[in-house]
Parts: sequence; C-alpha cells; structure tokens
Amino acid sequence: MNFKESLHNKAQVVEKHLATFFNEHQNEFEKKLHDSMKYSLLSGGKRIRPILALEIGRLFGAHESQVIDYACAIEMIHTYSLIHDDLPAMDDDDLRRGKKTNHIVYGEAMAILAGDGLLNYAFELMSDKAISMNHVNAMKAVSKASGHQGMIGGQVADIMSEDQGGDADILHYIQMNKTSALLTCALLAGGHIAGADDKVIKNLERLGACVGIAFQIKDDILDIESDEETLGKPIGSDEKNKKLTYPSLHGLEASKEKLLSLTQEAHDILDGFSGDVTFLKMLVDYLCYRNS
Ligand code: IPE
Ligand code: IPE
Ligand code: MG
Ligand code: MG
Ligand code: MG
Repeated sequence: MNFKESLHNKAQVVEKHLATFFNEHQNEFEKKLHDSMKYSLLSGGKRIRPILALEIGRLFGAHESQVIDYACAIEMIHTYSLIHDDLPAMDDDDLRRGKKTNHIVYGEAMAILAGDGLLNYAFELMSDKAISMNHVNAMKAVSKASGHQGMIGGQVADIMSEDQGGDADILHYIQMNKTSALLTCALLAGGHIAGADDKVIKNLERLGACVGIAFQIKDDILDIESDEETLGKPIGSDEKNKKLTYPSLHGLEASKEKLLSLTQEAHDILDGFSGDVTFLKMLVDYLCYRNS
C-alpha cells in the first residue's frame, strides 16, 4: 500500500464533503458568517479526526456514507476549537494552517461567532442524520468529548495552568481532555455507527487515550523543534504562554521516548482488533513521525 497516496485520497473524501455545506446564504450577514466559517474549515488541515472516524467505521463494518456526516461534524468542532484557541484571550497566535488566523482576517467578534457557528452546525448535521440508535450513541460521545468534561474542560485547565507550572496529574488531565477527547470521540463515532460492542468501545477508548496523548506530545515537540513554514502555525507559542506541556515538565528527550512508547501501545491495541488494521497502524506511525 502506498500510505501517502491512501492518506491523500481519504483526506480528499473529507474535503469534498466539507465543501458541500455552505452553498446558500439568505442575506449579507449569513454570507459574512459563512465566509469566516469556510475560511478556517476549508483551509487544509490534516483531517485526522474524520479519517479516523471513517477508518474505524470501515473496520467494524459501517459504510462511508453512514459515517461521513459525523466525521465532518467532528472536523467542524475541531476547527471551531482552533479558531477560539488562537484568539488573543487564549493562545494569541496569528498563523493557522499556513494562513492568517481567523480573528486577524475577520476580527475577534466574527472569529468567536464563526467558531460558535461551526459548533452548532456540527450538531445540526449530526441530529439531521441520526437515523439509528447507533448514530445517537455516536452523537452522545461527540457531545461529551467536546464539552465541559472534554475539550473545553481541557482548554480551561490549559489556560489556568499558564505561568503556574503543575504536576504530571494536571498535565495528564490537560492532554486527556483538550486533545485526546476529540480524537477518541472520532474513533467512538466510527465504532458506534458500525454497532461495535462494549468491549470494542472500551478498546477504542484505550486507543484514543494513547493516540491523543501522543498527538499532543508531538504537537508540543514540533512547537519547539519545527519552523513556522513547515508547521503552518507559529513555533514557540507554548514558551510564549508558559504552557504546561510534556516537554516543559519532563524535557524533550523524555517526550520523544514517551511518544514512541505510546505509539507502540497503540499498535498493540490495534493488533487486538480483527480485520485489516494496516492503514491504521501506518497512520499511527505517521502521527508520530509527522513534521506538521
Ligand atoms: C492541532 O490539531 C491542535 C491540537 C489538538 C494539537 P491538528 O494538528 O490536527 O491540526 P490540523 O487540523 O491538522 O490543522
Ligand atoms: C490546542 O492545543 C488544543 C485545542 C483544543 C485546540 P494547542 O494550543 O497546543 O494547539 P495548537 O498548537 O495551537 O494547534
Ligand atoms: Mg492552546
Ligand atoms: Mg494553540
Ligand atoms: Mg500546540
């Protein structure tokens, strides 16, 4: 299998579907809002979460057409989290996905509203397509993961820990919530829609924890070691904001070791699933060795 080509093709499926959501506007206000939402949503991005949802769905027997709207809804929620994460009141960054951040182009008020718009559109889309109890279970997983006991909760801990230092428990809470939660819910959405049993769902939660924490550790390493052009976002953002990260707490070498051991753990969990996990194992490796 040519992994890069497969990854590109799968991302294209997501791109095409995302591009179908903003065809009409009723007036100039809605047009402005759509422009701002589209600016961030359709500006590239690795599309890891939707690809994970589709791949797990496929592994457990769901067709792409049953999962694609949920996969795109999760990408909308992820994009909203990025727009808000970049705001001056949060990480105050001016580059995202290789372009100026939403608030730099549209102003803070519109960036906040575009984020809100994407979040609500995601739930509109999922509820519209909730044609089975499996879909309702997927929607429940997405709601929980994006909320106060998930991504938003993690962002609160991330912000409250700025300048404070903190210990391994707080760091774990930040990583599990701000990052792992949304990645995990992509796996769970795929699993639920495919009607996976409780044992599989538990293993998907374990897999999501490994992949999510590894993902954030890699993001934190890249924030130190990459460059703005390759990354498409500023480097040194964490140091600027005195964030509590794996590298700030344990150092770069320990971060790289942890990233490798989590990647191995993710492989072991994937090996426990029946079905073809070749692409998923390559994806986990790509997330570990990526440079953007
Ligand atoms: C960045 O996520 C935010 C984190 C959770 C670390 P991604 O690295 O998936 O960003 P895009 O979607 O590819 O831009
Ligand atoms: C963000 O973590 C996690 C979100 C919920 C958006 P970061 O603040 O490290 O993400 P980047 O580096 O800005 O993409
Ligand atoms: Mg942040
Ligand atoms: Mg940030
Ligand atoms: Mg970061």
